[in-house]
Amino acid sequence: MDYLPIFARLAGRPVLVVGGGAVALRKIRLLQQAGARVTVNAPQICHELAALAAATDLCLVKQEFDPDLVAGAVLVIAATDDPTVNVRVFAAGERHGRLVNSVDDPEHSSFITPAIVDRSPLVIAISSGGTAPALARQVRTWLEARLPEAIGPLFRLAEQYRSRIVAKFTDPRRRRRFYEGLMDRSSVVAALEQGHPDQAAACLNQALETADTGPAPGRVVLAGAGPGDPALLTLRALRHLECADSILYDRLVTPEILACARRDAVRVEVGKGPGGQGWHQEQILAELVRRAAAGEYVVRLKGGDPFIFGRGGEETEYLRARGVAVEVVPGITAALGCAAAAGIPLTHRDDSHGVCLVAAVGTEADDELEPERLAPVGRTVAVYMGVHAAARLQTALLAAGHPGPTPAAVIENGTTLRQRVLFCRVADLATTVSCCQVQAPALVIVGPVVARAPGYAAAAAGTAA
Ligand SMILES: C[S@@+](CC[C@H](N)C(=O)[O-])C[C@H]1O[C@@H](n2cnc3c(N)ncnc32)[C@H](O)[C@@H]1O
Repeated sequence: MDYLPIFARLAGRPVLVVGGGAVALRKIRLLQQAGARVTVNAPQICHELAALAAATDLCLVKQEFDPDLVAGAVLVIAATDDPTVNVRVFAAGERHGRLVNSVDDPEHSSFITPAIVDRSPLVIAISSGGTAPALARQVRTWLEARLPEAIGPLFRLAEQYRSRIVAKFTDPRRRRRFYEGLMDRSSVVAALEQGHPDQAAACLNQALETADTGPAPGRVVLAGAGPGDPALLTLRALRHLECADSILYDRLVTPEILACARRDAVRVEVGKGPGGQGWHQEQILAELVRRAAAGEYVVRLKGGDPFIFGRGGEETEYLRARGVAVEVVPGITAALGCAAAAGIPLTHRDDSHGVCLVAAVGTEADDELEPERLAPVGRTVAVYMGVHAAARLQTALLAAGHPGPTPAAVIENGTTLRQRVLFCRVADLATTVSCCQVQAPALVIVGPVVARAPGYAAAAAGTAA
């Protein structure tokens, strides 16, 4: 972060604007909205600025730039059309220890002004750090279109009730959840959206009267993070990530997904490494219970879907048996994400009437790959955790009845920017995995449908050549 975003309280404070044209005018209007006492220093001023000066308490100093004026201001804006003047304003600011913004000249600025979404009292400032202001403005348009109209009135209402809310909820977690409930499609928001502020106030009153004020009970949300691409996170999982007190996440959860979580949430990696190092399952279960008992809103975040080779079943049973409230949020499992990313239809009217998801290792029983688990019987087989045992997997697939030339795909880091898709045949699976040094996480998909992937024909021709 090159710039620290802050919101300055400028009401009644002196701000100097150097320049008298349209750009200066825009900045002055904004500063006046924030209540600043603005002095304008320019030898000439435009018509509109003269009119504004006549109508407001704008102080005009109609002369060439006077560096001495800088010392009397808390902030300075250089908005002239002469870059050399802007540079002198910046230099004066540096001398006097004043922050200066030279419009469209980040090099001669000690602060920059962000693009603003103003739904006062909610104000969102967006900045690209001076690198691409036009893009930042596009983000502003995007945000403006998505923010509910009622957001400003909701904040005003919450402001009116603030002291009552603070007095009612001594437990800060309860208070935060009350606010989250307000934002989350509450009757208060509905009334404001329909333009009924009195009804909204009545709903808020009632919500306050009936709210539970004891310590917030803990709970655990077992959420699927999907295969890696944050855009494949479900909206519900995202909402939980934005509200959680703590997040216990697996190794497969990507940093991009963790970046979607509430900034203050405690993040704990509880991953188990391939060699069994890291957290043991019993430790994870105990930690979940401990945090829930302390009243935390815990998200147990797992790669893919929690109920597909994710031990989600064990975790929910364990927690429910101890009286901990659990919610399960599904995620896109690796087989679905990887197949889509590689262009492989897992079923097809002509080639496959079903899909079988199989774990090659790590199941409770043992590491055996019984042929019946992998039997083709007209369906596609997606094998999880198979690349460390590719030679055994190949033997088992052949023994299960997949002919050697059956198309296969190995998808490493599917759906992420590091995705790699390798096509081969069942007979060359082990060689492909070892020659291409495939690393976990990787998924193997086997069946005639693989040949329908856009890259398969070229890869097969390359192999044949
Ligand atoms: C312990 S399992 C967890 C599966 C997860 N619960 C799911 O639904 O996808 C881990 C295995 O899933 C597969 N996997 C998970 N994410 C993957 C990805 N992005 N690309 C390829 N395979 C992935 C790999 O086979 C990996 O070894």
